[in-house]
Amino acid sequence: MAVGIFDSGLGGLTVLDAVAKRLPDLPLVYMGDSAHAPYGVRTPDDIYNLTTAATQRLFDAGCDLVILACNTASAAALRRMQEGWIPTDKRVLGVFVPLIEALTERQWGDNSPPREVNIKHVALFATPATVSSRAFQRELAFRAIGVDVEAQACGGVVDAIEDGDMILAEALVRSHVDALKRKMPDPDAAVLGCTHYPLMADAFQAALGEDVKVFSQADLVAESLADYLQRRPEMVGPGTDSGFLTTGDPDQVSSRATQFLRRQITFDAA
Ligand code: DGL
Repeated sequence: MAVGIFDSGLGGLTVLDAVAKRLPDLPLVYMGDSAHAPYGVRTPDDIYNLTTAATQRLFDAGCDLVILACNTASAAALRRMQEGWIPTDKRVLGVFVPLIEALTERQWGDNSPPREVNIKHVALFATPATVSSRAFQRELAFRAIGVDVEAQACGGVVDAIEDGDMILAEALVRSHVDALKRKMPDPDAAVLGCTHYPLMADAFQAALGEDVKVFSQADLVAESLADYLQRRPEMVGPGTDSGFLTTGDPDQVSSRATQFLRRQITFDAA
């Protein structure tokens, strides 16, 4: 029995790590499409085609449930996948909804009408494709009223992380936070709307200041998956082996992943 976790590259490892801690007995197959990362500068059609190919690879590995641990794919491809591509015996879940439920103080699946919430000014940091999809604002509008969202497209950060250049990634984070603050000087909360960004969480928090509550997805997605599997245990697929698959160079990707998660991670070619 295995659950699939997909990202364009290494960012979804932040979600995998949280899921592995929350559900230690659950076999997980990770798929990172490093050969095609970053997705955040691609067109919606391109993102859809790459995401469906990677998801199919996870179905083939015995996963009936796949988490798109990638905001860009969740924003640009998931709805289209759900409209006709996903076979009826499989499920694909994105990473936006658990985050927005946390931000809007809702329990899982609370579909009551939108209402006022405590948070009024939200800074969203995400890839250019996620920002231009406006998926975050759309999901938020279903659940909350009166929340002002200022989005900052953080060009370059995913490339720097994938290349292991954390000094560049940190400098870019500081400059994106400065740009955001010129548009919204005092956000109450910041959303790290890209699964790569928790790897830079300290840099975001330092640049934003201690008063800004920073929401990142890993633990929220892990909690929501645990809840989902309690209600739908049959969605854990027939695969029994955990593993890490990449479309990139397995040696290079393994060494970066090992550095990020501070434990040995060995990728195989997808
Ligand atoms: N981790 C992906 C996300 O959450 C990064 C996308 C990219 O490859 O640009 O959006």
